[in-house]
Amino acid sequence: SESRLHLADALRAGWRVLSADGSALDAVQAAVVVLEDSPHFNAGHGAALNEASEHELDASIMDGASLAAGAVCAVRRIRNPVIAARAVLDRAQAVLLAGTAADDFAERQGLAMVQPDYFTTQRRVEALRVVQARMASGIAQQSSEAEKHGTVGAVARDIHGHLAAATSTGGFNNKPSGRVGDGPIIGAGTYAKDGACAVSCTGQGEIFIRRVAAYGL
Ligand code: GLY
Repeated sequence: SESRLHLADALRAGWRVLSADGSALDAVQAAVVVLEDSPHFNAGHGAALNEASEHELDASIMDGASLAAGAVCAVRRIRNPVIAARAVLDRAQAVLLAGTAADDFAERQGLAMVQPDYFTTQRRVEALRVVQARMASGIAQQSSEAEKHGTVGAVARDIHGHLAAATSTGGFNNKPSGRVGDGPIIGAGTYAKDGACAVSCTGQGEIFIRRVAAYGL
């Protein structure tokens, strides 16, 4: 399937960085950008729609060598949220920027900006329609795993032994407006520390936040 091809493309993008003696941090960013650009994953183009039929995207990245981290949450206009997370890591006096201020930061940084409908695919429109119809009729039927999740992430270890992790997501179909998941929360959805772990989570974010799922000593 095309989603498998795009997964292979993501692996290659990360590998290209690592094999040229690049950093784990650059490798995970390169891999996640490919998955954000693919319509088949719940991040960037193809992300889930919230209850208001809007996209609010979350992303983060962490450098296991320095424990530097950057993240954005509930952003609407940044073409590649993981690149914005990296810009926060590199250039913001913050670890996590939220909402329109994060969009504005990315724009000032010269990142590619899009109209919100760039992220929308027919599949997500249909998935939102189905879940909202189901809730309106009171039928408590579970969505398929593929429709519930699809957050993307990457972890890498470079030639110097440094670790990094990155995560990007649209959350889940019909999520509440303003809901922020585990993806941009360091220690919940993403964590990297040299000699310990590099972790990127996919699944029900609320559980990962409560259990600090990605954290490693
Ligand atoms: N794990 C993705 C989310 O819950 O937003």
